[in-house]
Amino acid sequence: MEGVYSEGSRHALPGLMQQTHERIIVSVGGSLIVPDAIDSAFLRRFKDLVLGKVQRGYSFTIICGGGLTARNYQHAAEAVTPLSRQDLDWLGIHSTRLNAQLLRNIFAGYAYPVVIHNPTIDIDTEDPVIIAAGWQPGWSTDYVAVQIAKNLGAHRLANLSNVDYVYTADPKRHPDAQKIERTTWKEFRALIPEEWDPGLSAPFDPVAAKEAETLSLEVAIMNGAHLEEFGNYIDGKPFRGTIVS
Ligand code: UTP
Repeated sequence: MEGVYSEGSRHALPGLMQQTHERIIVSVGGSLIVPDAIDSAFLRRFKDLVLGKVQRGYSFTIICGGGLTARNYQHAAEAVTPLSRQDLDWLGIHSTRLNAQLLRNIFAGYAYPVVIHNPTIDIDTEDPVIIAAGWQPGWSTDYVAVQIAKNLGAHRLANLSNVDYVYTADPKRHPDAQKIERTTWKEFRALIPEEWDPGLSAPFDPVAAKEAETLSLEVAIMNGAHLEEFGNYIDGKPFRGTIVS
């Protein structure tokens, strides 16, 4: 597999307390990894938080979004040549894979040695961290995350982006929009469009939401900039964000 392996020495996990064996799926928006330039400070804090939870027995499958990298490449290509939706999607997919390789290297020693592309393959590993990226045109990384949750039998998916909550309407256009702390898939899906469009400003891909509903998956939507909230969610404590279940 072309250049996807990255060795890194295996790190022992001293004093691993086996309090839980839960694998949590995390969809990390590209806006957090590459808001304008790559946010190394965020990546450092994210790594520390994840490995702190790994010490307590949690394991993580982390799906990386494309963010500005995807949009920059798509806009640059379009400015030169008219491209099909599929071609633009491939630029997005490779952007998610570049971001995923970055995370894979950051978690070297803890992470499965290959970035997962196909979310339906069997992944037989004891590695506490698995990194995944975009799979095929017409999908989003949210949808990849839901498919991986299905494949691994995970019950909780944390969607880290740059919004604090799901709101009753787009708060940028409707200042009176109300935050939602807990909702059902039925109610959530009534708030968002039915179709997914790349670049759609919905808190979670509608196609992924439909699949999550059939799986009875719990998805927590929160602002990855406030990583302590992610920590609280993992611990089952009150957190700033929205739970859809
Ligand atoms: P993202 O999932 O990051 O989409 O994939 P996004 O809407 O830009 O989400 P945020 O803002 O990062 O959270 C980036 C692009 O890559 C393509 C799509 O074109 C998408 O817009 N993509 C991604 C696919 O075509 N298939 C995939 O499986 C994943």
